[in-house]
This record gives sequence, structure tokens and C-alpha cells, in this order.
Amino acid sequence: MSLTSWNKKNFGLNITFVVLVVIVVMQLFSIFYVAHTESHDSTLIERIKPLGQVYIEEDSNSVGNEEKVTVNDKARSGKEIVSSSCSGCHSAGILGAPKIGNKDDWESLSQRGISELLKTAISGKGAMPPKGTCATCSDEELKSAIEYMMK
Ligand code: HEC
Repeated sequence: MSLTSWNKKNFGLNITFVVLVVIVVMQLFSIFYVAHTESHDSTLIERIKPLGQVYIEEDSNSVGNEEKVTVNDKARSGKEIVSSSCSGCHSAGILGAPKIGNKDDWESLSQRGISELLKTAISGKGAMPPKGTCATCSDEELKSAIEYMMK
């Protein structure tokens, strides 16, 4: 075998190998491409679907929901109200708030009577927000909270 014929044979083998590789690569690419476009389509559908869907609740349901938003039917104790809503200001006497259990602070106030204090507590006074931030508090609950703080 001369050197040139060996080269030719080798060259032929190389070409076959390269063609095979190209076919395999194209095959792989087409598989990948199909998979890719499929997933692309589903994200596209996801992206172009309408923004919101109107949900019309039946009247009977909405009535039921309103009933669920009832204020606690069982009155909370003064202590509970104070610790959840009032103590933030009244325990340290922030902004001049009468301190919880401080006789001096409450003595002059108590002379005005609990119903008067309740009135100002409901409407708010100075830095004291209406209902002392307890929007869900009933008058009765606010009253027991005031009584708890006065003791
Ligand atoms: C953001 C702070 C703050 C919170 C929360 C707060 N208070 Fe007060 N409260 C004050 C301040 C300040 C005063 C003094 C107001 C004044 O005399 O100008 C005050 C005063 C009062 C007074 C006396 C009102 C009067 O007629 O002089 C009562 C009663 C009272 N608070 C009840 C409550 C109750 C009950 C709560 C909780 C449900 C509460 N407060 C929550 C700040 C607060």
C-alpha cells in the first residue's frame, strides 16, 4: 500500500465519520427543538390567557358570608382588651396616657364618671385614637377595659 492510497482510504473513512456525526447531531437537535417548542407553546398559552376570571357569587352565598363576619358574641375581658389594644400606650404612659393601675393618674379622671370616660375613649381625645385602636371593641368591652386600667 502506497502512502497516497493509504491517505485516500483514510480520508474516505474520515468523511463517513463526519457525515455520521452530522446526522446524529441533527437528529438530536430536532428532538431537542420539538421538545423545546412544545414547552414554549404551553408557556405561551399561559402568558396570553385572560388576566382575570369573573366569579359571580350567588346571592345566597354572600348572605352567608356576611353572617360569618360577626363581632365576637362573647365579650372579652377588660384585661384581654387592655393587653391587646391599650397597653401599648397606657402601660408606660406614652404621650401622657394615664398609666394602667396608677391611682394618681386615674383619680381625677374617675371623678368624671365611667360613662364620661367611655364617651371620650370611644371618640378619642388628643393623642388617644378613637376606641384606643380597638375598632372591634364593643362599648361594654371598652368599659371593662377602662375599669381594668383604673384598678
Ligand atoms: C396610641 C396610644 C393609645 C392607645 C393605643 C390607647 N390610648 Fe387611651 N389614651 C391615650 C392618651 C395619650 C390619653 C390621654 C389623652 C388626653 O388626655 O389628651 C389617653 C386617655 C385615655 C382615657 C381617658 C380619657 C379622658 O376622658 O380623659 C381613657 C378612658 C382611655 N385612654 C382608654 C383607653 C382604652 C380603653 C384603650 C384601649 C382599647 C386605649 N385607651 C388605648 C393614648 C392611647
